[in-house]
Amino acid sequence: MNALLVSTKPATMQVWREELLALDPALDIRLHPESGPVEDITAAVTWNHPPEDLYRYPNLKLLISMGAGVDHLFRPPGPPPGVAVVRLVDRLLTTAMSEYVLLAVLRHHRQDAGYRALQARREWEELPAPDTEATRIGVMGLGNLGADAARKLAALNFQVAGWSRTPKQLDGIETFAGADGLMPFLARTDILVCLLPLTPETEGIINARTLAGLPHGAYVINAARGAHVVEEDLLAALDSGQVSGATLDVFRTEPLPREHRFWTHPNVILTPHAASITIPRSVAPQVIDNLARLREGRPLANVVDVSVGY
Ligand code: NAP
Ligand code: GLV
Repeated sequence: MNALLVSTKPATMQVWREELLALDPALDIRLHPESGPVEDITAAVTWNHPPEDLYRYPNLKLLISMGAGVDHLFRPPGPPPGVAVVRLVDRLLTTAMSEYVLLAVLRHHRQDAGYRALQARREWEELPAPDTEATRIGVMGLGNLGADAARKLAALNFQVAGWSRTPKQLDGIETFAGADGLMPFLARTDILVCLLPLTPETEGIINARTLAGLPHGAYVINAARGAHVVEEDLLAALDSGQVSGATLDVFRTEPLPREHRFWTHPNVILTPHAASITIPRSVAPQVIDNLARLREGRPLANVVDVSVGY
């Protein structure tokens, strides 16, 4: 038996089943928790599935993340040893994230909150003109998402830099890498955009020390994972004015608890982990392709390096 386990929210699982069967009607799809005999399952496409449950399938060979991020698969105990892990790399996913970042950057840069407040008071007043070419944006993470957002921001004439784990070269973008590159990167960043994967190295990377390394009044955008941010440190920086505002899509606890200060902070704009949502129809072909590669013993696409966790 070569069965594919699908696991996410119940309503979304049905959509996944339809989209995958539309491309390959012969697929044997099992929706969690109705997996049938555990020996049947050879591949799984999952989102926020309990990681320990994946150890129940003795013939599991391939784990496919239903998103770009794979941190949900690396929560203890992590993926079962010897099981390959792949993720989604998708044009629509990338485009949607860049749209989110551009919206957040431009809303801040063009003083949208200020103009809305003036409108509410029926006051006709110009705010100081923003200088795009003098505004320095720093993108943490120069992968599929970060590099696309960085290029699009550079095309708008912002001064863009990026920070990655290993050195990168991108036309028109200043690049920094590794632990030594972090503080110099932050020191030249007026608007910080986080598009890192969540790993032990990047957990809590937006904290009191790194926020203090930004110029006074910098703006923060986090659309990666909530655990990149030490939330109390960000709130303190917002309260002191070290950070002038933040756009946040992701949080340590999701859904964000109703009593959390982010909901009501005057300088926080938040969205419910909706910056870039996987569209099953768009990604089903790459899932089918990887299942075929697995069956035929060909190299998999979009493979995650299990040793670094992304
Ligand atoms: P990716 O292609 O794997 O790129 C990751 C980038 O981060 C790479 O440039 C990598 O450096 C860099 N990086 C990793 N560890 C680092 C470290 N310790 N120090 C400095 N840089 C480091 O990932 P992606 O597809 O762009 O996605 C990024 C993340 O976005 C995902 O992991 C996910 O958590 C998040 N996401 C959020 C949403 C949402 O709706 N909010 C949607 C999709 C994705 P190298 O280039 O040197 O490898
Ligand atoms: C969403 O958060 C993703 O990782 O695709």
